[in-house]
This record gives sequence, C-alpha cells and structure tokens, in this order.
Amino acid sequence: MIRICMIGTGYVGLVSGSCLADFGNTVRCVDIDTDRIDTLQKGGMPIFEPGLQDMVIRNIESGRLIFTTNLKESVENSDVIFVAVGTPSFPDGSTDLSYVTEASISIAQHLNGYKVIVQKSTVPVGTTRSLEKILREHAPKDAHFDMVSNPEFLREGSAVADFLRPNRVVIGVESDRARETMREVYRPLYLIETPNLMTTLETAELVKYASNAYLATKISFINEMAAICEEVGADIDDVAKGMGLDQRIGSKFLHAGIGFGGSCLPKDVASLVHLAKTKGYDPGIIEAVLEINRSLAPRAVDKVRNVLGTLSGKTIGVLGLAFKPNTDDLREAPSIRIITQLIKEGADVRVFDPVAMDAFESAVGLAVVRCKNAYDAAENCDGLLLVTEWNEFREMDLTRLHKVMRKPVFIDCRNVYKPERMKEVGFRYDSFGRGVEQGGSK
Ligand SMILES: NC(=O)c1ccc[n+]([C@@H]2O[C@H](COP(=O)([O-])OP(=O)(O)OC[C@H]3O[C@@H](n4cnc5c(N)ncnc54)[C@H](O)[C@@H]3O)[C@@H](O)[C@H]2O)c1
Repeated sequence: MIRICMIGTGYVGLVSGSCLADFGNTVRCVDIDTDRIDTLQKGGMPIFEPGLQDMVIRNIESGRLIFTTNLKESVENSDVIFVAVGTPSFPDGSTDLSYVTEASISIAQHLNGYKVIVQKSTVPVGTTRSLEKILREHAPKDAHFDMVSNPEFLREGSAVADFLRPNRVVIGVESDRARETMREVYRPLYLIETPNLMTTLETAELVKYASNAYLATKISFINEMAAICEEVGADIDDVAKGMGLDQRIGSKFLHAGIGFGGSCLPKDVASLVHLAKTKGYDPGIIEAVLEINRSLAPRAVDKVRNVLGTLSGKTIGVLGLAFKPNTDDLREAPSIRIITQLIKEGADVRVFDPVAMDAFESAVGLAVVRCKNAYDAAENCDGLLLVTEWNEFREMDLTRLHKVMRKPVFIDCRNVYKPERMKEVGFRYDSFGRGVEQGGSK
C-alpha cells in the first residue's frame, strides 16, 4: 500500500485519486478550493462524471480516501505526490504554468523523507525538469525526491472506466527507486497486463501531446473531407466507413461534424504548435488542424443563416451545450461560439442540455432562454441546431419536434440523423458532408 497525495481535485485529480484509492492505496486529495473540498467531504460531486460518486463514497467509507485543504499534513504523510492542477492556454497558445509552479513551491516547503513527485498535469516538454529545479530551490537542503512524468489519457464522460482500464500507462522516470515506486502505485494495472512505457521525462511529456495532436488531426482531416464531400456531392459517412475499414487507418475519430472542443485537444494542440515554434520549427500539419477546427462553428451558423436569409429576429434552438456528451464541461465547447454568433446577429436563442445548464448559466452567462427538454427548446423555433450528441437527442420523437417548430429547419452538427428520414418527416435538414435535404415547408 502506497500513501499518495493528489494535488488538484478536478476531472483528472478527482478521478485518479479515487481510482488509486480503489486500487488499495491511501489517498489524500488536496485542493485550494475550499467549497469543492467541503462538497467532496460530504460525498457530493463538484463535477459530473459517470460512476464517480459511488467510487468516491465507497473509498471515503473505507478510510482510504480523504479530502482536505491541508497540504502540509498531506505531503508529510505521503510517499508519492501527484500534481493534477490545471494548465490552461494563454491566447498565444502557450501554457499557463502558474498553477503547477505554485503547487510545486508549496510541496517543496513540506518535504520530509524520500518522495516521488509525479507530474500528471499536461505540461510542455521540459516542464517536469524545470519544476525539479524550482522544487530544489524551495525545498530544505536535505530534501530527497525524484521527479516523474505520468501524463493522463482519460476521457471526460468515461473517465473512471478509462483510468481503471487504460490502453497504456506512460511513465517518464529516471531513477530505479522512483521506477519501483510507480510500479507499486499501478500494480493492479500491471496485474491485468496493461501495456506500459517507461521512458525519459521529456519523451513521456511528448507522448501526451503527440497523442492528442494525432487525434485532433484525424478529426480535422475527416472534417476537411466532409467539406469536400459537400462540394462534389459525395457522402462523408460512406467515405469515413470506407477509410475506416482499412486497418492501417481504423474507424475511430473519423466522425465528421462540428469538430473538437473541451479542455484538452484545443489547448494541447495549440501548446504543441507554440512549443515547436519557440524551438524554430514550423509545425504545418497541426497548425492547419486548428485552423480547420476553428472554421466549423461559423459554418454551422452559416448553414442556418443560408436557409433563413437572416438570423435577425429569428428564434433558434440549440440542443446540447457541453463540449461532448456525458460531461458538464463547457471549456472550448462549440456551443459557446455558435450561441455567441447567433445572439450577435440578432437571434433569440433557446437552449437545453441534460447536464450542463447550470454550468452554462454560471460560467458563460449568455442571454438565452433556458428550456426543460428538447421539445421545449424547439418550441416556435425557426431553426434548431443539434450541437452535442447526447443519447437523448439521438432518439427524439421527430414528428413531435417538427410539429412544435415554427419553421422545420434542422442543422445536425453531429451527423446523428439520416438525411432521408429527416426529409420524410418534413425537415429542411443539413448536416456536415452529406448534402442538404430540401424538404421542410410548413
Ligand atoms: N480534463 C481532462 O479530460 C484531462 C485529460 C487528461 C489530462 N488532463 C490534464 O490534467 C490537468 C488537470 O485538468 P483538469 O481538467 O482536471 O483541471 P480542472 O481545472 O478540472 O481541475 C484543477 C483543480 O486543481 C485545483 N488547484 C489549482 N491550483 C492548486 C494548488 N496549488 N493546490 C491544490 N489544488 C489546486 C483547482 O482548484 C481545481 O480544482 C491539466 O493539465 C489537463 O490538461 C485533463
């Protein structure tokens, strides 16, 4: 059993801390956000993540999981200290390292005995080594610790399952003692034969960025193909299917639509572009990936404006606010850019999301009408945009939806519905890369 301190209780820290406690370790989760710690101590959840609450409660009850704001006591009573705080982007794409730096300085002041300090936040290549210097400057002279880079690959919405059964564990580690400690931390994953890669600090850091940049590239690639499909009258669903059946390509991440958002892909790709440029290399492919992705939200608005002529005075419904289903995370959500533009052009916007309504109201603060379900959001609308493909939006009663709308204009930003079916129901339906169904009179 290893004594662990997890600094940061966001999507990554909370999930990783709870899962590591479930592995049998003792985990102290520390945050500077006192409200968040209060909520967690009472068994409440500051974020929406399927399966997380049960796991948290189970491990609090077993005494293996503790939530606290007391960093000193947590560091002193731990063998391994994970840092899982935010690393947001600056507007130029560079990474704000202030949270990881502050966390490192705080850790340094309480070091006693040998510790392994693990960077789980996604940080630009070279950061873990720079943080080691900062730690040494602020730590007692006799402090004894090793640095490890252990990037996280979980996905919001399936984070618990991803942590418990990852495709791989990547560990940048340069001392035998820290290597053995990390093996012990992840012992249950080794027992189920999870592939693992032990490498240098810099390589581990780059594996994370390279993986996210590659996934983003697949998405932007298929979206570029979707735009070409619209020009030449081809069908992106079949193009993606035909490509994906090639085992060298694979079918995952070849779903055309409105592109990627969230707290990871956009910021990590931008950070990699920035890093490469500061080193004098022009990363042409991944810069284009971002540019294509940025063009997609405006295209969704173009699609509805093209049908209605103008958005001024029109009522538009938006289904889905979170950047993807099964999360309440709104960071870099395409919904925000779409709604901002709709409002700017004079539309009234009605919105519904199964989980992210409160988060949207408090964090985004755009003037929209909050609705209680998809049909309510569509009520008297001149156009409806399906922006996040929550399951409940995949199985809607289309006839009812058609009936409540003023004009049956449906823009499917996630290519959820079959164009022929939407035409049959009477919608004027458009999606990405599949042609426009011209039905839709009322
Ligand atoms: N969200 C994801 O899906 C995901 C996946 C893989 C990797 N990552 C990376 O993991 C890191 C964390 O992401 P997140 O989404 O969990 O962030 P988040 O914003 O949800 O959570 C960060 C938490 O850290 C806390 N914090 C900040 N400074 C602190 C300090 N000095 N001491 C204690 N707590 C502090 C904040 O209060 C917050 O609760 C980022 O680098 C991110 O890129 C995120």
